[in-house]
Amino acid sequence: MKIAFVGKGGSGKTTLSSLFVRHLAASGAPVIAVDADINQHLGAALGLDETEAAALPAMGRHLTLIKDYLRGTNPRITSAEAMIKTTPPGEGSRLLRVREENPVYEACARPVALDGGTVRLMVTGPFTESDLGVACYHSKTGAVEMCLNHLVDGRDEYVVVDMTAGSDSFASGMFTRFDMTFLVAEPTRKGVSVYRQYKEYARDFGVALKVVGNKVQGPEDLEFLRAEVGDDLLVTVGHSDWVRAMEKGRPPRFDQLEAANRAALESLRTAADARYEARDWERYTRQMVHFHLRNAESWGNARTGTDLAHQVDPGFVLDERVSEPA
Ligand SMILES: Nc1ncnc2c1ncn2[C@@H]1O[C@H](COP(=O)(O)OP(=O)(O)OP(=O)(O)O)[C@@H](O)[C@H]1O
Ligand SMILES: [Mg+2]
Repeated sequence: MKIAFVGKGGSGKTTLSSLFVRHLAASGAPVIAVDADINQHLGAALGLDETEAAALPAMGRHLTLIKDYLRGTNPRITSAEAMIKTTPPGEGSRLLRVREENPVYEACARPVALDGGTVRLMVTGPFTESDLGVACYHSKTGAVEMCLNHLVDGRDEYVVVDMTAGSDSFASGMFTRFDMTFLVAEPTRKGVSVYRQYKEYARDFGVALKVVGNKVQGPEDLEFLRAEVGDDLLVTVGHSDWVRAMEKGRPPRFDQLEAANRAALESLRTAADARYEARDWERYTRQMVHFHLRNAESWGNARTGTDLAHQVDPGFVLDERVSEPA
């Protein structure tokens, strides 16, 4: 199950992503945690110290390796240079599974031990000043999009992505890659305005979107969120002393998390799990082709000097039952 946490800056995306990852790990579920946000804090929220977090390999620095692995023997993708972030898999492509070893995880994922289990953490890499506004900016989150487009995940295994709600993910199609998107919103006008924008984009693509109210302090906060987002409000999280303690560098054991917050995390899991039956791999594949053609036309063809529409394998449908190429 692919799950994204989005929302306005500072709303609590990283905090809730990390708590959700811990919650899943504590149940023994296999989890890949992905930090796809501009502000890279997920490692720290999962308990890594500064040195450990700084040593995490950036996916953006392994783009060629990722592309070469994923394109495999796909004859439609002749080189890593010709592969852009939206290039869809086809016959001969290699797919990623949550529970396996592969060169992409070897280069880009690191194990993080949590109470109850170990998860894999992948990070896009911090954005340097010179990246902003240029191609590299896109290629860094592009690495995540590429992996999601080649991922065949099953029930009871999870990929949790901490990301921004920015326009970058709308242009690329990244926002359509998830079984469930949790929009983290504080009970403020700004918080819900990000929700409205996201909802608008999501509507046309059948994106499952639920609001998680955060830092909700009382009946007035709750009433405000209910009035603004209606039935899309899934659950709310209040101030957490557990989170505060962790921020001080003194993480209590995860089983010490407040009962109400644990119940909220379980609601998130139930809502995400419920999307399994609604999966439609054909539509999922069609959407990646749609965004690929759009990106090809707007910049990809010019950049690569080829017609990237030829990369689309018309007979290919991504599916968790697809087996490895011979
Ligand atoms: N429920 C909570 N209880 C206590 N503190 C919280 C809670 N949610 C978030 N915080 C605190 O609020 C701050 C912002 O949270 P967080 O970093 O998760 O937000 P973010 O949306 O990921 O921000 P950014 O956009 O900068 O990535 C952090 O200091 C975090 O510890
Ligand atoms: Mg964050």
